[in-house]
Amino acid sequence: MLVKELLSSKKAIQEVIAQGWVRTRRTGKSFSFIEINDGSSFHNLQVIADESIASYQIVEELQVGAAVQIKGSLVESQGSGQKWEIQASEVTLLGNSDPSYPLQKKGHSVEFLREIAHLRPRTNLFGSVFRVRSRAAFAIHQFFQERHFQYIHTPIITASDCEGAGEMFQVTATNEKEPFFGKPTYLTVSGQLEGEAFATALGRIYTFGPTFRAENSNTSRHANEFWMIEPEMAFYDLEADMALAEEFIKAVVADVMEHCPDELTFFNKFVDKGLKARLDHLLETPFVRLPYREAVEILKKSKQNFQYPVEFGQNLQSEHERYLTEEHFKTPVTVFDYPKSIKPFYMRSNDDGKTVAAMDLLVSGIGEIIGGSQREERLDILEANMNAHELDMETYRWYLELRKFGSVPHSGFGLGFERLLMLITGVSNIRDVIPFARTPGNAEF
Ligand code: 4AD
Ligand code: MG
Repeated sequence: MLVKELLSSKKAIQEVIAQGWVRTRRTGKSFSFIEINDGSSFHNLQVIADESIASYQIVEELQVGAAVQIKGSLVESQGSGQKWEIQASEVTLLGNSDPSYPLQKKGHSVEFLREIAHLRPRTNLFGSVFRVRSRAAFAIHQFFQERHFQYIHTPIITASDCEGAGEMFQVTATNEKEPFFGKPTYLTVSGQLEGEAFATALGRIYTFGPTFRAENSNTSRHANEFWMIEPEMAFYDLEADMALAEEFIKAVVADVMEHCPDELTFFNKFVDKGLKARLDHLLETPFVRLPYREAVEILKKSKQNFQYPVEFGQNLQSEHERYLTEEHFKTPVTVFDYPKSIKPFYMRSNDDGKTVAAMDLLVSGIGEIIGGSQREERLDILEANMNAHELDMETYRWYLELRKFGSVPHSGFGLGFERLLMLITGVSNIRDVIPFARTPGNAEF
């Protein structure tokens, strides 16, 4: 049985088998305490092996990190700290661990653990992070499936640059003489454009997949390979889009808090002492909605010593985003109606001629966690925007046709999965919520 199942048992069990890796071993006068974990639970399972058992010599030679199988009975624990423990009758060594095993009892820095990313999931911190990651992914699917969104697998290799930032990894065959696909191709920066084709057929869709950006930004919030969730909804305007984004974040946070309580308690104690209070607050408070113009006014009046200037037409930098959400409003903030000049070609032009129906959801500690918009559904305006962005019309002919045949108002957004995990866990570096991070100069493992 799994450690998790054993620890939540309703009754004592005569004969059980447990497997796992040794976390600690202490030797008493005539017995040993072994703590094992198989990764299914935050908590270890305590095993008591009496020197009278035949395999006691094996027990005495067990190293931290060794893989073992324990036969015995599940009994109520005499000690405090756990309800159940196993009284071992037989201990089998499946694979011993070399004494050089780096994860001995003392804690290690996250920087050191990044260098042994193949072993770090065995620590309390990373075991917790990746159980939470798994649960959050499930909660995301559940959220959309319950609301009749269809899950669409958009391509990873594309010929288009959705965001128009030119930060793409090119895809070539190792032995190619001519472009393998007949034209230059890239790893996708977003599944949105293909998502729109499906939203204008299936109504409500979402994608959930890997995304690649060749940004050379070495920050705690950027990775070159990350996972994005992109819902796209026909018949949604920006207002409905912002409402969905808020409902979505709250639902996933609430789900993880409910299903991973031990992990969150651990994060709150050892990673970020304000975490639980902040998540409770996030669930209870309506997010602020703020037009970009007003955001600029607030920032100008703030008397903060920002590194980057604030002016209509300038992108909000992370320092501005964090000031709004952490200092000024002390709650998540959705900024909307951004200047047209700083946003991609597909966003819907507002009547003022200067702004587009864009929105960014900002949260404390991170800044932008979601970026979305209402899409330009009017063919002539979209064509004009694409010309202004000097896009190759042939590449996007299919995208334009979505406006030619039954065009409808539609909206969507993209959530960076790792940034959501940073929000939920309090872990402050994106490298520590991805199994094996890809960042500039770094593709180990
Ligand atoms: O704001 P972005 O670039 O928006 C899009 O890609 C749209 N096509 C989404 C849409 O409307 N369907 O990216 C969306 C989110 C960001 O808010 C951020 O959370 C995350 O993706 N993100 C990154 N996360 C980690 N590392 C990076 N380099 C990221 N770039 C964006
Ligand atoms: Mg963005």
